[in-house]
Amino acid sequence: MPKVTFVNLGRTVEFESGKLPYQHHGKPESILDIALNFGIHLEHACGGSCACTTCHVHMKSGAETNLSPLDDDELDRVEQAADLTLESRLGCQAVVTGDVVLDMPSWNRNYVSEGGGSLNLGDAIPAGKK
Ligand code: FES
Repeated sequence: MPKVTFVNLGRTVEFESGKLPYQHHGKPESILDIALNFGIHLEHACGGSCACTTCHVHMKSGAETNLSPLDDDELDRVEQAADLTLESRLGCQAVVTGDVVLDMPSWNRNYVSEGGGSLNLGDAIPAGKK
């Protein structure tokens, strides 16, 4: 049973591969799909179609072996993300196949703390981030 730890939330969730009900945003069993299944808010302004960067996460461990490989579409998009790091992935595209640990960029966390609803910010980048 793969486990996904959201460091900034201090929360770990566990699911059975192939049994998670698809939430219709992003790839099935992607980080976004898993978050939505467990009531965790991860921004996803484009609905999980690899057309924004609001689902951007920083992988802390497990990315090399327990996530689907970064493909060209995801790479082209994630390169436009604020707070890009070598550990950056798009939550809607990275499919979880084993235990992973991740963190949300601080600007994304602010959206969560400011209400939690989807703000539909598209590719908006906060002042001072680019
Ligand atoms: S939700 Fe838009 S790229 Fe992931």
